[in-house]
Amino acid sequence: MVKFLIDTLEQKHILSKSEFVSLIKHFDSQEISNYLFEKAVAVRQKHYGTTIYTRGLIEMSNYCRNNCYYCGLRASNKEIERYRLDKETILACCKIGYELGFRTFVLQGGEDPYYTEKKMTDIISTIRKTYPDCAITLSLGEMSYETYLAFYQAGANRYLLRHETANADHYALLHPKELSEKNRKQCLENLKKIGYQIGTGFMVGTPFQTPEFLADDLLYIAQLQPQMIGIGPFIPHHQTPFANQKQGSVQLTLFLLGILRLMLPAVLLPSTTALGTLDPRGREKGILAGANVVMPNLSPIAVRKKYQIYDNKICTGDEAAECRFCLQRRMESIGCQLVVDRGDAKM
Ligand code: 5AD
Ligand code: SF4
Ligand code: FES
Repeated sequence: MVKFLIDTLEQKHILSKSEFVSLIKHFDSQEISNYLFEKAVAVRQKHYGTTIYTRGLIEMSNYCRNNCYYCGLRASNKEIERYRLDKETILACCKIGYELGFRTFVLQGGEDPYYTEKKMTDIISTIRKTYPDCAITLSLGEMSYETYLAFYQAGANRYLLRHETANADHYALLHPKELSEKNRKQCLENLKKIGYQIGTGFMVGTPFQTPEFLADDLLYIAQLQPQMIGIGPFIPHHQTPFANQKQGSVQLTLFLLGILRLMLPAVLLPSTTALGTLDPRGREKGILAGANVVMPNLSPIAVRKKYQIYDNKICTGDEAAECRFCLQRRMESIGCQLVVDRGDAKM
């Protein structure tokens, strides 16, 4: 019966909410997981072969004006040492990254008002001119339509904004009242309308999450049809209101990666750092569940430890080149190859 749901998902790329809920509830069955992962890997290989795309992640600022209950960068966290990278440092990261074979740069940060539209468009257009063959991905949170448009016109191609949870009540349990699920979804619509390749996603195992909420996440994603989907287990951070909450399950995260691969066969699906943080082979397991992207860190070593969105984050003491080659070896250990490529979605 459950295998039948996986077959249906493979053929139709969608299930009803109650079907998704029943499927999700079987995540801890080894037999069902293996059945799902085998199909998911076959679909990944059909579209991408054994090629794994890579992106250079530049964590440009750990200042954030928001107070998401789960995140270590929240404004109310007074313990964390804040930093922001200037234009020259960001460009130096791109240079190192380009030489290491990265053709996508991801500029990620908290919502930091220091980077005004003017400062940010200047940074983006300089990267665009210097590296015309590279994709520029932004992951800088919620902004106005006009600002998103200005960044796009300056040369950004992609934008990552996880919806976090598609259910409004659940959203309100994870965020202060200034933030809403409605605005989040509006931002994603705006980005799509402007012409960005968009990425969304959610955390697995956040407090109060239920299989029904996860089914809502899947249905929302099916309707949005993003080019990228980032998911990872929730990991508590000791200086947040969720410090004592349970961490998310690696097994459930892998199961959802498999489901997402069957739902959107050609989607770009990263095997995330959070997976690698909870399991030493988490990123390899993510690929073996259907993921096809890894995002090694390109941030300067001096700031790495300060970008602690959750506790025990890996790769905070390693140089860009170390992470790059570490991941290459990890991918080769499971029969895949990292490639020098922009890695656009084949959809
Ligand atoms: N554990 C796991 N992921 C987290 N994120 C934020 N805080 C945590 C945490 N404690 C994720 C959110 C955000 C992305 C940048 O990191 O989904 O969108
Ligand atoms: Fe800021 Fe993003 Fe962390 Fe929320 S998740 S506090 S918006 S960095
Ligand atoms: Fe960073 Fe392995 S990927 S050290």
